Amino acid sequence: MELSRTEDGLDTLAAAIRNCRKCDLAGQRQHAVPGEGNPRARLLFIGEAPGAKEDRSGHPFIGPSGKFLEQLFAEHGIRRDAVFITSCVKCRPPSNRTPTASELTTCINNWLLPQIQCIDPKIIVLCGRVASLGLLGEPVKISQAHGTLVARNGRRYFISYHPAAGMRFPKIAAAMRSDFKILAQLVG
Ligand code: URA
Repeated sequence: MELSRTEDGLDTLAAAIRNCRKCDLAGQRQHAVPGEGNPRARLLFIGEAPGAKEDRSGHPFIGPSGKFLEQLFAEHGIRRDAVFITSCVKCRPPSNRTPTASELTTCINNWLLPQIQCIDPKIIVLCGRVASLGLLGEPVKISQAHGTLVARNGRRYFISYHPAAGMRFPKIAAAMRSDFKILAQLVG
């Protein structure tokens, strides 16, 4: 698919994602969730996969972890309409199980990498273990790597926790707050 760095490119991808049948998750979804936000965002946030609310609505991060993410944005002067938010896998895995390696690779190669190419963000924020594994291609210990920037394939990746973990565990929430402080400075 020929794509330029334009909103059109992202819209074309979003339409293709909504019709995607490249893996078995397609048969179980209500909506694929391509992601949304500023097509020229300097910050691109990448999660794992849609949850139940996202599957019902087709919009990313609208459940409790999205509320926590919004809170972190507000606390650090990051406007939601200035960023783009998506996930590695665009369809909800049954019972929110972790995406399989094959689902991850299929969705990242077909959809996420072209989305990254269109947006061309300054920093890609990897939210959690699955996003870090998917984009960096190797397991990452988030408790050690969070708050750091990794250069790979001409892109800059910032590692943090998944907001669902931050929402549940106060220590992780505190670590995410310190990560977002660094992030706000990096992008500022
Ligand atoms: N978790 C994700 O990774 N993505 C969403 O859209 C919602 C929850």
